Amino acid sequence: MPRESTGSIAGYCSSALNSLTPSQITFLQSLPKAELHAHLNGSIPVSVLQDLARESATIPGNIDSEAVQSGLEKLLNGIELREINEFFGLFPAIYALTSTPAALARATRSVLQLFLDGPTPECTYLELRSTPRATPHMTRRKYVEVVLHEIDRFNCTADGNGNGGTREKAALIVSLDRRMNAAVAKECVDIAVSMRKKGRKVVGVDLCGDPMEGDMEEFADYFRQVKDAGLGVTLHIAETTSNTPRETLQLLSFAPDRLGHATFLDDEAKAIVLRDKICIEICLTSNLLCKTVTTLDDHHIRYYLKNNHPIAICTDDPLPFRNSLLSEYALLLAERPFGLGLSEDEVRKVARGSLMGCFGLN
Ligand code: IMP
Ligand code: ZN
Repeated sequence: MPRESTGSIAGYCSSALNSLTPSQITFLQSLPKAELHAHLNGSIPVSVLQDLARESATIPGNIDSEAVQSGLEKLLNGIELREINEFFGLFPAIYALTSTPAALARATRSVLQLFLDGPTPECTYLELRSTPRATPHMTRRKYVEVVLHEIDRFNCTADGNGNGGTREKAALIVSLDRRMNAAVAKECVDIAVSMRKKGRKVVGVDLCGDPMEGDMEEFADYFRQVKDAGLGVTLHIAETTSNTPRETLQLLSFAPDRLGHATFLDDEAKAIVLRDKICIEICLTSNLLCKTVTTLDDHHIRYYLKNNHPIAICTDDPLPFRNSLLSEYALLLAERPFGLGLSEDEVRKVARGSLMGCFGLN
């Protein structure tokens, strides 16, 4: 089945990609690399959501079609955010379309194909993350089972040569949302730990969601349990200027293996991150479009590159951000003003770092 695109690549990363020569693009495509920070419901190709909307509309009273249509139109036309909070308002329309096991399975398949299929796959290995959601049609455990089933099916499908056999290409990170209450967070951690014990492809737990919400102290015990079970921990951290240094230190006390964004770390937090060599998941387009970073030149990636610190280049949410992993790498290689103007050797090193940061392959 052909890989579906999330729609056209647009904006900063598209300009960067268009500025490259064919041989530079081939170089980027040929680099082994891992996508470590992609949210399932933020990565569904818009064409798949349109199909799901058409199918749902035939079931009377099933979804609020008007709200979904207006959400889909926004995604099709390209979002323009004034600030990061507006970003989270995009998800209810998507969630309305992925609330049954069949729709979630379809969405998961399309995201696996988006990143891993085709003659020049976006990445060699994918750690896909998603927040278990209870809906009128499934429990949170069922949600995780559906996603894992698709990951297993994908890993076990015939390889490109038509031979059967397992290829370990994808794994799941279970996301906790900062807005979750204690009972729901506990349920999600219990699901992640029990799946791990059964040998399923859950490799880590993430903390995500609106950065202004939640009391992080409440999550300390859950992440201890996650670490005790041998799962990796990744935390969205210091995503906005409103995230306090106190909160950042609290999150660092959970001993995370990786950090998402880490945009506004103060000197004390940076010292810990450098000392413990905590891999930073860098999402260039996401930060620019959410306006937490003004220009590429101001991006904190430059600090980590200068310090020779492990980073992984990631897409975050290709659906609203209209990016791809290739175009995010193009932002590294493209000459200014389109990109950071790194050398091919420097980009190769970054790609290698993404593979070293995986929870599942180490
Ligand atoms: P899901 O976990 O598969 O449902 O993916 C969508 C969810 O990921 C959103 O509802 C947010 O909670 C979370 N998310 C996506 N992008 C970001 C981000 O940049 N910061 C924090 N949370 C995010
Ligand atoms: Zn994210």
